[in-house]
Amino acid sequence: MSEGERLTELAKRRGFYFPSSSAYGGAAGFWTYGPQGAALKSNIEDTWRDRYVVKEGHQEISAPDVMPEPVFEASGHLDGFDDMIVECGECGATHRADHLVEDNTDIEEAESLPNEEVMDLIADHGIECPSCHTSLADQPVDNFNLMFETNIGPGSSSPGYLRPETAQGIFVEFPQLSEYARNQLPFGVAQIGKAYRNEISPRKSLVRVREFTQAELEHFIDPEEDEPPLDEVADVTLPLYSAAEQQTEDGGQRELTVREAVDEDIIESVWVAYYLGVSKEWYERIGVDMDRFRYRQHLAGERAHYASDCWDAESEVDGDWIEITGFAYRGDYDLSKHADHSGEDYTVFKQYDEPITVERATVDPDMSYLGPEFGGDAGAVADALEALAERNPDAFDDDEVTVEVGGESHTVPVAETNFSVDEVTENGEHVRPHVVEPSFGVGRIIYTVLAHSYETDEVDGEERTYLELPPEQAPTTVGVFPLMDKDGMGELATDIADDLRAAGLSVTYDDSGAIGRRYRRQDEVGTPYCVTVDYESLEDSEAQRASDSASGDEPRAGTVTVRERDTTEQKRLPIDGLAETLEQLSTG
Ligand code: GAP
Repeated sequence: MSEGERLTELAKRRGFYFPSSSAYGGAAGFWTYGPQGAALKSNIEDTWRDRYVVKEGHQEISAPDVMPEPVFEASGHLDGFDDMIVECGECGATHRADHLVEDNTDIEEAESLPNEEVMDLIADHGIECPSCHTSLADQPVDNFNLMFETNIGPGSSSPGYLRPETAQGIFVEFPQLSEYARNQLPFGVAQIGKAYRNEISPRKSLVRVREFTQAELEHFIDPEEDEPPLDEVADVTLPLYSAAEQQTEDGGQRELTVREAVDEDIIESVWVAYYLGVSKEWYERIGVDMDRFRYRQHLAGERAHYASDCWDAESEVDGDWIEITGFAYRGDYDLSKHADHSGEDYTVFKQYDEPITVERATVDPDMSYLGPEFGGDAGAVADALEALAERNPDAFDDDEVTVEVGGESHTVPVAETNFSVDEVTENGEHVRPHVVEPSFGVGRIIYTVLAHSYETDEVDGEERTYLELPPEQAPTTVGVFPLMDKDGMGELATDIADDLRAAGLSVTYDDSGAIGRRYRRQDEVGTPYCVTVDYESLEDSEAQRASDSASGDEPRAGTVTVRERDTTEQKRLPIDGLAETLEQLSTG
């Protein structure tokens, strides 16, 4: 069994995740998180929120999953959010053409190749349909848009889409969000929510699905002024696999500190470098194995339409590298697009400390002298002259000035433009922020953490499986068991479980089956501690209670055994203060 198959089996058996709607045959690419998975997911999201929202001092929002069509016209998703598809002429099955090439050749990244080249590779390598094994050599490779379309309200006049990234819910609302941030850059807005992509070939359980959770941070910065607090992470070492390394024969990853990577220009943006440092520590905290982790820079042809530089965090499972997070420098791409399409103001007004006096060149052209042959172009020529005066006033130094409109040159006497340069007072300027975006796929992170924490050893001559999850992430912190449900052990164990829950710990109570089996069940869901109430606990309690009441103290109970998951070591610890003891053990 491969690592991934072993994990999927455990995930279903123990309630981490399983395919949805299977009573009706299911639909590929949709997964339900069971009780253990939902708890793990919520713990991982909480630590994400703690690190990227609370500690960074950012704000969190929750925007709708459905957004109207103009949003995605502006963002570029309607036109450009495509994957390459090939349909089998024999059985009608559809496949991702670039994946077929990657699976059947030694090409690692076929996504950025032109469709024709992918078609040729399919033919040259005799690649067959994975469903019916017919040659795909003569089939066309087309583009397929990944967005799920719907209608908002009855009828089809108002198309909407399930968002393919949570980010758009932040960008669209920038004018409002900027007001909440009192128009002060830099500021960050985060969101944890669902994203939807109608993937051609969902695969590897949580790795490529059609509905998934993203945790995204959009950090809005003034590119001229704002710097990240790089010193905080300057010494963190990063396993880097840069674009340049990937193109050399024997290229491999390099370990550099954040500071070295910036100084050596391996990472272009200091902001991206900062978030790679922050995130390396965060991945360690949630249980990603750093020996199976790297940051890989996108090659030029691989970048999304909005990104000028992008690094992926990748984890290794089953010998494959999986992209778990994208760190993109999106520049002002999104805010400019939404400004152009909506006509709204997507800038921040930056107030100067003191007003300044500047020279401003303006024109006030009266184009009527040009005569009727100019037709509708006269206004466009006037606009072009205005833009030119603002951009390059020196162009008006000669007797004539030339502008291009609709592919034609128009030469106008400067005297007719009423060109003038005046002194004006300015209190500030409009700045279009740039965006730095760490974008985490929560499902792929869960898959990684489970795969990397999956361990086996031998206990009492039997193979044991356990998840070495950090206590902070484990779905359950403590399992509480009575050795047997008799002679008062069940009652005492129930009281202890209630007390631990009241103290805020996540507790599972289990009194069924042999104690060894109960330990194994908790090991397989990664519960770091198990508390067992036995006869000694009862004796302890009675003796303790008798001596407490003799001395006039509040009666206290006695001791229980506490078993640690990874070592299976057991200690007797007092029931009194057990919640604090377990909390201390959990936080190290
Ligand atoms: N806003 C930027 C953005 O969406 P992306 O690289 O397309 O960037 C970010 O997606 C993350 O979302 C990926 O790193 C991955 O972890 C996750 N993701 C993307 N597509 C996915 C899919 N079909 N199934 C599961 N996770 C996915």
